[in-house]
Amino acid sequence: MMSHNHLFIPGPTNVPERLRHAVDVPMEDQRAPDFPAFTLGLLEDVKKVFKTTQGQVFLFPGSGTGGWEAAITNTLSPGDKVLAARFGQFSHLWVDLCQRHKLVVDVIDVDWGEGVPVAAYAERLAADKAHEIKAVLVCHNETATGVTSDVAAVRAALDAAGHPALLYVDGVSSIASIDFRMDEWGVDLAVSGSQKGFMLPTGLAIVAASRRALEAAKTAQCPRCFFDFADMIRTNKDGYFPYTPATTLLRGLQASVDMLLEEGLDNVFARHHRLAEGVRRAVSAWGLELCAKAPKWYSDTVSAVCVPEGFNGNDVAKLAYLRYKLSLGLGLSQVAGKVFRIGHLGSLNDLMALTALSGCEMAMRDLGISVEAGSGVAAAQEYYRQTARPVDIGAAKAAAI
Ligand SMILES: Cc1ncc(COP(=O)(O)O)c(C=O)c1O
Repeated sequence: MMSHNHLFIPGPTNVPERLRHAVDVPMEDQRAPDFPAFTLGLLEDVKKVFKTTQGQVFLFPGSGTGGWEAAITNTLSPGDKVLAARFGQFSHLWVDLCQRHKLVVDVIDVDWGEGVPVAAYAERLAADKAHEIKAVLVCHNETATGVTSDVAAVRAALDAAGHPALLYVDGVSSIASIDFRMDEWGVDLAVSGSQKGFMLPTGLAIVAASRRALEAAKTAQCPRCFFDFADMIRTNKDGYFPYTPATTLLRGLQASVDMLLEEGLDNVFARHHRLAEGVRRAVSAWGLELCAKAPKWYSDTVSAVCVPEGFNGNDVAKLAYLRYKLSLGLGLSQVAGKVFRIGHLGSLNDLMALTALSGCEMAMRDLGISVEAGSGVAAAQEYYRQTARPVDIGAAKAAAI
């Protein structure tokens, strides 16, 4: 291959050089006497990214879907009632996973482009005097539509109703990129994966469970084996795993968490917000709309861009890939053909985001979509210039001499 592909799907994301080196290590002995010195520190450090001191982190070989399954099967029993909303492919798939585990899901269907309907949740919870609902699901960032939901508001609704249901959050495309506060928001199960905000190759399901969730796991009856918390708890306590762990990814995860904490989580979130805002300015300069229906839903990790009537968003992505080596996200399910998606999460800076915008513009113009050449790129450039970190050129010159 003459040059690399520009990866702007909303995960897997670009793996930075430091993390590529971190995973490029020899296989190691997962039962070695000094292995726990590494793993016990790692399990503690990952908690910082979830903002939990009370919860426990589990690192399974797997992907986000495995994390969903771990969260659900460890804490619920067949027949348990679950409250969920469906507003995109991923919130849909989580509901599907619950149904396949014989849970009874009360699904609230919401227009794709909006997020968790907090008022409807509050109503359902207040009406459930017998506390039959055992689980409340929130897809924090719906990657299919570029919509972020308000987790704290769902916690407030649970508290207002005095409802004891556990709160489950899909943070696969939010955690480590968008503000997430497990303890403060009273989240009981939080799910992520290695290949998005953690900037690593795919292969780890990263799950955190609250004390209440761990209590629930003691009596939950859903069948589980590979994802059993109990086996992990028994072995993790001494720094080991119940089966062969993905050691190279664990080494990578330590480096990833180090990078995130060195940058500072608030700075990581601010960087994502700023880059996303530049992308949104570009979309607006193109005269196009986002799938997200209002600013309160705007996602800082992915933007789903609606293409004009008569055009197919998947053609934009296909052409961008074949002609310009730019990978964009496709429209999935209900929005297939209607949108293309720009992933702007993970290891990313201004000029990288501009590359994606430039490729989108070229592909759209090639297809005959009426966007002015350079319009989106210029709008994002100006926003990035105006909001760039000030640089003291004098000091930089002095340092160079
Ligand atoms: C919000 C969300 N949840 C869950 C998943 C499923 O994760 P995975 O594909 O890693 O199994 C994805 C994947 O893109 C996602 O974006």
